[in-house]
Amino acid sequence: MRKTLQGLIPYKVASEQADVIRLDNNEAYTSLLSYIDFSELEQTLLNRYPDKSTEALIEAYSKFSGYPAGNILAGNGSDECITLISQYSLDPGDSVIVLEPDFSMYEKNARVMGAKVATIQLNDDFSLPLEKIKADIQSLKPKLLFLSNPNNPTGRLYGKEEIEALIQSMNQAGGILVLDEAYMDFAGESAFAKKVIDYDNLIILRTASKALGMAALRLGFIIANDRIIEGITAVKPPYNVNTVSAQIGTQLLKKPELLDQFLIMQLAQIAELEEIMKEFTGRVPGSILYPSSTNFILMRTERAKDIADFLYERKIKIRLFDNGSLEAVRVSAGTVEEHSKLKEALMNWSDNHASSVK
Ligand SMILES: Cc1ncc(COP(=O)(O)O)c(C=O)c1O
Repeated sequence: MRKTLQGLIPYKVASEQADVIRLDNNEAYTSLLSYIDFSELEQTLLNRYPDKSTEALIEAYSKFSGYPAGNILAGNGSDECITLISQYSLDPGDSVIVLEPDFSMYEKNARVMGAKVATIQLNDDFSLPLEKIKADIQSLKPKLLFLSNPNNPTGRLYGKEEIEALIQSMNQAGGILVLDEAYMDFAGESAFAKKVIDYDNLIILRTASKALGMAALRLGFIIANDRIIEGITAVKPPYNVNTVSAQIGTQLLKKPELLDQFLIMQLAQIAELEEIMKEFTGRVPGSILYPSSTNFILMRTERAKDIADFLYERKIKIRLFDNGSLEAVRVSAGTVEEHSKLKEALMNWSDNHASSVK
């Protein structure tokens, strides 16, 4: 292993029993598989490398999202998109800025490229420490600044002006802002959707894994101006999106009404989850629930581990953060039945344990 990679921790992917309720990964809680016409896949040339399938996928995503097809690159999940952007941008020793907390793959990819990663803590209420970030951009001259908006795991949506200020600041420093909008569908329209290609130094990341419910397909999208797209195309493996995923993704993207309905259904579940978590937070002294623009919600509490363990014993899996800088649980929206089990378990925990909170 290269010296720079020592200490790198694998991303843990836990396989669970089928009867475990999964509220830990911010996925859509139900599958759209029944809307797929599998007879269309019978024409698939399994012996051939993908070509037209990716073009059709990009075309379908372009129609769905409004971004010009020529300014979209498809990846094997936005995870791969993050890797491609890092390969395109980073030489060993370059600086990269990430925020804490934020999606962990940014730092990992930057480190794999041998970049120096500066981590900036979000403010205590999870807002952006804008002046600090701008000062660090000026002094470090980072090649990349990664951030998710809305943020994972806080759920917070940053304002257009703040992002604009960071784009300008990165531009002056000669770097690119990577704006990961994995959860933007839940928050409404991106302020940058219409003009991303007018910027010299902005990359938007989108995914089919969250509001579009296709995490299993692994489809992510890079949107940027011609020059950046051309550069990333040069580092991209030729057949990174497989034919079967591209075909299924294309079919679903061509059903915008279905995807709209799907989103509306999820938004209703998100509102239900928020009510449950508000009630629970009210019962746990010292805990804080953060407003969320996503399909998950973050609750900060000293009892995070207790709560996550208690739920897991009852076959409900949520995401625990107890890394020193953040003690919290993150819960993704689920079905009505899943929520009712979640609520029962949470109330049970607070009846029996909440009074012992310091
Ligand atoms: C902010 C953010 N970006 C990217 C990803 C990865 O998404 P994908 O499934 O497209 O690789 C996630 C997944 O949780 C995420 O939270």
